[in-house]
Amino acid sequence: MTTEQAAEAARTTSARKDEHLTIVREAAVEPGRRPDGPFSHIVLEHQALPEVDLDGIDTTVSFLGKRLRIPLLIGSMTGGSAKAGEINKRLAATAQATGIGMCLGSQRAMVEDPGLTETYQIRDVAPDILLIANIGAVQLRRGMSPAQIEDAARRVGADAVVFHLNAAQEAVQPEGDTCFGGLAEAISKAVQEIGLPCGVKEVGCGFSRSALERLADADLAFIESAGFGGTSWPLIEALRAKGPLSARLGVTFAQWGVDSATSLQNCLRYGAGRPIVASGGLRTGLDGARALALGASTVAMALPFLKAAAVGIAECEFEVACFEQELRTAMFLTGARDLAALRGRIAETTG
Ligand SMILES: Cc1cc2nc3c(=O)[nH]c(=O)nc-3n(C[C@H](O)[C@H](O)[C@H](O)COP(=O)(O)O)c2cc1C
Repeated sequence: MTTEQAAEAARTTSARKDEHLTIVREAAVEPGRRPDGPFSHIVLEHQALPEVDLDGIDTTVSFLGKRLRIPLLIGSMTGGSAKAGEINKRLAATAQATGIGMCLGSQRAMVEDPGLTETYQIRDVAPDILLIANIGAVQLRRGMSPAQIEDAARRVGADAVVFHLNAAQEAVQPEGDTCFGGLAEAISKAVQEIGLPCGVKEVGCGFSRSALERLADADLAFIESAGFGGTSWPLIEALRAKGPLSARLGVTFAQWGVDSATSLQNCLRYGAGRPIVASGGLRTGLDGARALALGASTVAMALPFLKAAAVGIAECEFEVACFEQELRTAMFLTGARDLAALRGRIAETTG
């Protein structure tokens, strides 16, 4: 690719990022969301005698070598435009103030145009947080090298890298990259070469057993389940489609994927024992408590933080405060003094 072609590619990526930010704020993009959340069929065990003080509950967890005050990550979202840079700073300031972790959006734009690096740089406002860099796994088939991916992650001071798998989004996006042949092997090789812990995630269509089995031998530090039930990328791409054909395709596949609860269970069962981040439509600390009781190591939420960050840092901090209070209350009511004790506190699974 010539310098001019790279600059043009970066402009296209950057414009697409801004379109996504506008659509997710203005349109309804969660066609599969259940009113009571993705784990509403998981009934936690109520304890009339919790035998623990609410104030004595410990929500801390260690993930990828860093301590989180609450088991919550701001999900991978953005970077690559001025607007995205401002949002990243707000999200990062929130993570630093509240003791949670943060995942950056795809760094493809800054690899294409290093001038966009600063839109991902947040260490000035969040020196201590767990920070996870992000890149589309399909970029490995488009000529991006593991060294470039590691360099992009190190330039923003990330602690780890996550490869996203977004076949449904790419299939609907008119300019999408759909070269997914041989990707599992490419991920395994890249992970060997990158000198940072690496994970994989979906973007809202979840993991089946066979997808996880294809990654069984990869040296992955974690998997993020990102099931269907929250933000739908086929739908978002339908809403930005320029022609009726791709609009129709996106609407047809708006509800495609492995639902969040099944994806989480698949990751826990077939994820070769790696720590699992539960995500895809989680919106409350009670959703989080249910995922943690099932066995997740931590939780990620994306869309609610994007909406809050568009308004301000106080709104982002309110999201965290709600999640924390709801999680603490669920732990108190199940008599779970800490997150290890919360695991398995399930009375029944309905439906
Ligand atoms: C505005 C926006 C941008 C996103 N960009 C990325 C991205 O660059 N890389 C990625 O892995 N996932 C991306 N996602 C997907 C989320 O990380 C997450 O997997 C998905 O939205 C499901 O979680 P949610 O229902 O809590 O939003 C994005 C989500 C949103 C809302």
